Amino acid sequence: MNTQFDHLSLNLREDANGNKFLWLALDVKDEAANVLKPEVIQEMFAAIDAINTQQDLKNTKGLIIHSGKPGGFIAGADVKKFRGITADDRELALQFIHAGQQLCQRIEDMPIPTLAMIRGFCMGGGLEIALACDYIITDDGSYSEKDSSAAKGSVSTKLSLPEIKLGIHPGFGGTVRSIRRMGVLKAMPMMLTGRNILPRQAVKMGLIDRCVPLRQLETTALNTLLDKPPRKKPPRLQQLLESAPLRKIIAMQMRKQVASKAKQAHYPAPYALINLWEMHGANSNAMFAAEAESVADLVATKTAQNLVRVFFLQNRLKALGDKSLFTPRRVHVIGGGVMGGDIAAWCAMQGMKVTIQDISSEALGRVVGRANNGFQRRYKKDRQRIMRAQDNLLPDLHGYGIAKADVIIEAIFENLEAKQKIFKTVESKARPDAIIATNTSSIPLHEIAQVMKKPERLVGLHFFNPVFKMPLLEVVHHPEQTDPDIVKLAQSFGSHINKLPLPVKSSPGFLINRILMPYILEGVTLHQEGAPVTVIDQAAVDYGMPVGPLELADMVGLDICLHVGKILAETVGATLPDSLDKEVKNGKLGRKSGQGFYKWKNGKKVKPAKTGWQGDADQIQTKLIEKLLNESRKCLEDGIVEDADLLDAGVIFGTGFAPFRGGPMHILAEAKKSL
Ligand code: NAI
Repeated sequence: MNTQFDHLSLNLREDANGNKFLWLALDVKDEAANVLKPEVIQEMFAAIDAINTQQDLKNTKGLIIHSGKPGGFIAGADVKKFRGITADDRELALQFIHAGQQLCQRIEDMPIPTLAMIRGFCMGGGLEIALACDYIITDDGSYSEKDSSAAKGSVSTKLSLPEIKLGIHPGFGGTVRSIRRMGVLKAMPMMLTGRNILPRQAVKMGLIDRCVPLRQLETTALNTLLDKPPRKKPPRLQQLLESAPLRKIIAMQMRKQVASKAKQAHYPAPYALINLWEMHGANSNAMFAAEAESVADLVATKTAQNLVRVFFLQNRLKALGDKSLFTPRRVHVIGGGVMGGDIAAWCAMQGMKVTIQDISSEALGRVVGRANNGFQRRYKKDRQRIMRAQDNLLPDLHGYGIAKADVIIEAIFENLEAKQKIFKTVESKARPDAIIATNTSSIPLHEIAQVMKKPERLVGLHFFNPVFKMPLLEVVHHPEQTDPDIVKLAQSFGSHINKLPLPVKSSPGFLINRILMPYILEGVTLHQEGAPVTVIDQAAVDYGMPVGPLELADMVGLDICLHVGKILAETVGATLPDSLDKEVKNGKLGRKSGQGFYKWKNGKKVKPAKTGWQGDADQIQTKLIEKLLNESRKCLEDGIVEDADLLDAGVIFGTGFAPFRGGPMHILAEAKKSL
């Protein structure tokens, strides 16, 4: 039986011993990744019908579902279809969800053993299909040189149920089947965080049956179907936890944990998921039905629609860095302080060969020490990856790396003359095709470039602190001076090092610092006028900001805030509050000095005492957010970024601005519509 559909193909093959296996390969037409559109689901039904009505089925050892694309298994449902769904579309949404559920049920009910053979990503609906199979196997991600031809074009294998990041939860029966396979204590955190699970970890959790080297994947699939080992089940203890009285207690604890990260009013999906399990955890059929209804409700919420918007904004930023433009291998960083050291370590982790230069050998020693800590934190016990990153980072006191580098990033202290001196030397030593960049946060690009023979070569690569955590990279250009091709290459570099590159115009504060400064200064002013620190910060956090303005000021350093504030005061039309100057003069610099608006101990904020303040916190919130929204609007008017979507993307990924609200320009546009 060999059937070719539009998006799939079904083939019967025999192994060397004459055992027959059915292979169902997904290769969705006109899409880079396999996405579960309604027409793909319909074809899968047709394929299952064809299999089930086959005469010789009992002589078939099993069905293997796999991908015909090199990049991955299935990326999940087609997120494009979620866009613009409103409560009026509920019936349509429900139909689609039911179709997905029925598909998984039919796979589960098949009379022959079924196996999902996965390499590359396997997400959302894709993992739900896999969970409906009897067995799941993946490659183990350990491509050796020998495997390189087979691994070509593939991406590392990761499994996830990331629906929560889009404001919904699994809807094709995944809530039931993930718990059935792994137990609630493993399945729920996976769904509540939406995080990626790597193959070895997936075996440990019980999510998949086995992971093997890529070259053994097919043989393992066949052998599993021949051996038919017992299906995966969670340990008995985990199953006991699912009894009704314990469900109540566990659900309560999960709610508490979720509440410490996300409010129900802002992010309803995790709470809906917990309720679903608490109410129906003992009855699969009821849970399937409630799962579908819950997703149909959630997908039309403002939160889900805004998170879907953020998903596409992120894709847009990713696409701005065209990786095919060039292949950076060597990076040279000048200045091994807070920023330079972390930029170098980050690039080394992304597989670049990095040389790091500083005038002080002690500073270089500190870079290596901090980088090692960072590698260990990130890679945990994966010695191979830690050693690979360590090998990639080379201290270079004399700057020998400049001449070989594809990209040179300057990150010395913020001083025009010192930076100009560096670039004079760099330009004379660098390869003519190397990208020459500065990480300056406040000096206009053209002023630094004055000393260069080819000032059009200089771009800004403005990283954010902490480099390991902040996804955005501002790629700064001077509109009349910088060579646009070099800007494109710099964006490409951003993507190569897994940052989100945002092109911004060189102007005081670029985009992010300029937008944050009025918000911080408003916080300081409100405090000067008598509002307590905690009330001000809580008002911002209640809105959905990751930290309040005063805690942010403490983290950045009050001296830096004052310095940047002075530079930006005219641009943003702000007056610097006297108290900021006073605090700095008194040596209160924030986290680094142990005292700022908060007290800090070992880099951690000391919880301040409660205040009996009786003022209007809503008014404080309005004032803070108004500053942020206004400055966003002004940045767009000044052409700092090209359009409103890019501005929203920048603010969300550069500041952590409430993703569930969709971004400042989106908020302003919605407010205008409702007038
Ligand atoms: P830092 O003061 O921590 O480090 C500067 C390093 O440069 C020191 O290790 C110093 O020894 C070294 N250095 C000085 N002159 C040098 C020279 N001629 N050659 C080689 N090394 C030299 O500074 P930080 O905070 O890392 O800032 C660096 C740059 O990054 C500045 O331009 C700053 O505006 C920018 N930036 C800082 C951020 C932050 O949060 N600290 C965020 C984004 C950008």
